[in-house]
Amino acid sequence: MADYTTPPSDQLAAATLNDDVSASTVKKHQFSDRVLIRSIVSRPDGGAGLAGQRVRVGGWVKTGREQGKGSFAFLEVNDGSCPANLQVIVDAAVADLAQLVQTGTSVSVEGMLKNPPEGTKQKVELRVEKVIDVGTVDPAKYPIPKTKLTLEFLRDRIHFRPRTNTISAVARIRNALAFATHTFFQEHGFLYVHTPIVTTSDCEGAGEMFQVTTLINEAERVEKELIKNPPPSEADIEAANLVAEEKAETVKKLKSDKADKAVIKASVAELNKARENVAKLVERSKLKPGIPQKDGKIDYGQDFFGRQAFLTVSGQLQVETYACAVSNVYTFGPTFRAENSHTSRHLAEFWMVEPEIAFADLKDDMNCAEAYVKFMCHWLLDKCLDDMEFMAKNYDKTCIDRLRMVASTPFERISYTEAVELLLVAVKEGKKFENAVEWGIDLASEHERYLTEVKFQKPVIVYNYPKGIKAFYMRVNDDLKTVAAMDVLVPKVGELIGGSQREERIDIIKDRILEMGLPLEPYEWYLDLRRFGTVKHCGFGLGFERMILFATGIDNIRDVIPFPRYPGRADL
Ligand code: 4AD
Ligand code: MG
Repeated sequence: MADYTTPPSDQLAAATLNDDVSASTVKKHQFSDRVLIRSIVSRPDGGAGLAGQRVRVGGWVKTGREQGKGSFAFLEVNDGSCPANLQVIVDAAVADLAQLVQTGTSVSVEGMLKNPPEGTKQKVELRVEKVIDVGTVDPAKYPIPKTKLTLEFLRDRIHFRPRTNTISAVARIRNALAFATHTFFQEHGFLYVHTPIVTTSDCEGAGEMFQVTTLINEAERVEKELIKNPPPSEADIEAANLVAEEKAETVKKLKSDKADKAVIKASVAELNKARENVAKLVERSKLKPGIPQKDGKIDYGQDFFGRQAFLTVSGQLQVETYACAVSNVYTFGPTFRAENSHTSRHLAEFWMVEPEIAFADLKDDMNCAEAYVKFMCHWLLDKCLDDMEFMAKNYDKTCIDRLRMVASTPFERISYTEAVELLLVAVKEGKKFENAVEWGIDLASEHERYLTEVKFQKPVIVYNYPKGIKAFYMRVNDDLKTVAAMDVLVPKVGELIGGSQREERIDIIKDRILEMGLPLEPYEWYLDLRRFGTVKHCGFGLGFERMILFATGIDNIRDVIPFPRYPGRADL
């Protein structure tokens, strides 16, 4: 058995490599008995300066081939810490090469880093002296053989997707964007607030919520139980009642006969048992199959939360309670929408970043959104250039230039009315859209992409939308026709961000809720924020997967979230 108590003092590279951070040595991973491949191959010298170092690495074989008539093998090993592989050379005397060369095999190996012969691509390679562990693969059965695989094919093997270059690069970019998000908001004095996943308020009022209920499994449980163990009949209950009455008589008689105390006590115990039995039977006789009803409707009073509940579509309403108390906040979590869309831009479960700022208006909101998107672009260029180069080579030649452009160019800002005018001009000049362009109708994705990709060729913020197409919480402008909303549109994706200044005036927001045909009662707590100490405030929501699409140039949103959920699919 492994010794879990003492630190591994004699293990390879542990003491020396951990402490020594000079450029000629490599650091062992602090919580694992090996060196990360990134810390070898992602150095500025590609690892060349590490020749002569003894290391242990672990990873999965990307490709392997036996050479020199089976006397040694080349393995390309990847551990997911960076896009590059480490070239590993194993002699036949050290291990069974036929096993090692199979794609997908896991290896833990120890040896000496060496400079390869002049003229080879690698700057360093590992000459293996000892094979510590091997996790073998039967190549005939491995679900992701090494031929070039499409992203669609990989979606059907979701548990092996992260072993591929593309999905692991997406995972690292996604991780970097999450780190960038927290860094940006933390550096600007925002408090991270965890808003609920289960909610009883519909933020967007669009009726796209997934319901959370135990009524259905409860009904199924009762149904099964009643088949196995039918409910008592009235005669059963009557018989049990008779038994209880008899026991009561006996107790009464014993008491009037002044019987022995112990005898009375025993008799009372029997009576209690009989009464309990009656109560149990009555309770069971009430069990009915099906969903509980009251006044012809489903009785949510009997549901888990005692009321109807849903998965959140946005943390905004709840995070506003914190913005209206601690002033600068953000929430970053999963959100859920039961819209039956099969597009490459929609998921049923996606992640949203939602800042909310008190004492701030629509202009501040746009400034924050622009600064945040630019910050993320800079971050990827600074920290993920190797993964971005992989994306540029394999998916979208323009993705790095796009990040540079967005990081350095001011976003265009136009009102919705101006946007409609521009689109009408485009139509007049012969541009064909599938959806009509008309003031008062929401912009379709093709309109948004035309504005950002063709007309301006940079991010565009469209603001002041007609109030009829926007949510109840957006602040009504002085023209009484538009609201202080803004959407950030970016090339490749279209809408990346939706936000607004919030309506802080109690009378107006009440009217808006009623105007939209929504009930006031569930929003009373939200109205209270306007009744007591109301404050000008604003916020927005950034679709996190849309940001990854924008950055990587990958076409389908299902490939930039680890476990995509969409109509008909929820694997794992
Ligand atoms: O524009 P939306 O619906 O705005 C809100 O939910 C506001 N409550 C946000 C706020 O003000 N705090 O959604 C925000 C963003 C969209 O711009 C889009 O990028 C993304 O979320 N989004 C989706 N991403 C993937 N799949 C879906 N089904 C999405 N729906 C919205
Ligand atoms: Mg929107």
